[in-house]
Amino acid sequence: MYEAFYGLSGKPFQLNPDPTFFFASKGHNSAFSFLKYGVYQGEGFIVITGEIGAGKTTVLRALMEDLDPRKCVAAQLVSTQLEADDLVRAVAVAFGLAVTGIDKAQLLSTLEAFLTGLAVESKRALLVVDEAQNLSPRAMEELRMLSNFQLGDHALLQSFLVGQPELRNLLRAPDMQQLRQRIIASYHLGPMDAAETRGYVEHRLKHVGWTTDPAFDNSAFDAIYTQTGGLPRRINQLCNRLLLASFLSEKHQLTAADVEQVSDEIRDELGGGPAAVNAAPVGAVANYEDSQRTDNVIRPFGLSAITARLDRLDKSMNLILELLRAQNSPMPERRGRSGRQVKGG
Ligand SMILES: Nc1ncnc2c1ncn2[C@@H]1O[C@H](COP(=O)(O)OP(=O)(O)O)[C@@H](O)[C@H]1O
Ligand SMILES: [Mg+2]
Repeated sequence: MYEAFYGLSGKPFQLNPDPTFFFASKGHNSAFSFLKYGVYQGEGFIVITGEIGAGKTTVLRALMEDLDPRKCVAAQLVSTQLEADDLVRAVAVAFGLAVTGIDKAQLLSTLEAFLTGLAVESKRALLVVDEAQNLSPRAMEELRMLSNFQLGDHALLQSFLVGQPELRNLLRAPDMQQLRQRIIASYHLGPMDAAETRGYVEHRLKHVGWTTDPAFDNSAFDAIYTQTGGLPRRINQLCNRLLLASFLSEKHQLTAADVEQVSDEIRDELGGGPAAVNAAPVGAVANYEDSQRTDNVIRPFGLSAITARLDRLDKSMNLILELLRAQNSPMPERRGRSGRQVKGG
């Protein structure tokens, strides 16, 4: 919506874990390296934890893009309280196996045969479980059993467990001892610091062609960090709203006051509850953010209706701009410009 106004080629602050926007902060870089190390080890478990919105899934996506499919076959699960039997079935399905109408024992042997086949072809098998804090202890135990599959002394499966900080508590339980022994590395992805937060915002903006419009005061960057605690998801939410607000008031220079105002508005929309963007108690924010995971705009209180209306206004504004340009410029250039305009809008 504001993209055309600022001459951007796309939306800079979407909430999907798009690897083309990947910013290698110290933490994201380390998490990436740990996963990569795991791929080379080819066995056991790598555990990555981090708060909601820290960038875990984004790092996973970046790694997936980086893998050579001729050497490594990866299967991904997003666990939402999978029960143990479902888990083995889901793993088989994730590897693309046909599993309808077969019992547990057949399921396991099908999976083992498949993994053995890969090993014979010198391919690695990688199982990625995102949101792994939702796994039941029984499902965890099933995962551990799958990690027992071997060909000679060569493990057939490498697993990544990625999840929110509760995952660490889950793994600390006494009955998780055997699984713990299989963990070859674990890493907690913390938030970014102030300098990285700035780097992150600039990186995402530059990726869609930003140079200096709108310009951010140093104090604006400081405020973005203070208000978000350096968590990418919160930064995206805040900056998306910040650019929308600044577009609506036709600003080209952003200050700390602008950032704080938008941040207050987001807090108000949450009905006086904990701030969406401020460093509020994790549990409360977690619940809210969980329910918003697939959106890139905050919806409550009719905001989606306002956004839709602004979208329509934006389209008609672009149309008017095009008509005005059509009157003022010779044919070939007009086509070029309108092409950019439409793309940006
Ligand atoms: N390193 C990064 N580079 C670019 N964008 C990131 C990075 N980390 C997180 N993000 C962005 O932040 C948001 C939340 O990231 P996500 O990976 O979904 O977090 P998590 O899985 O930890 O909850 C997404 O919009 C994603 O695009
Ligand atoms: Mg995630």
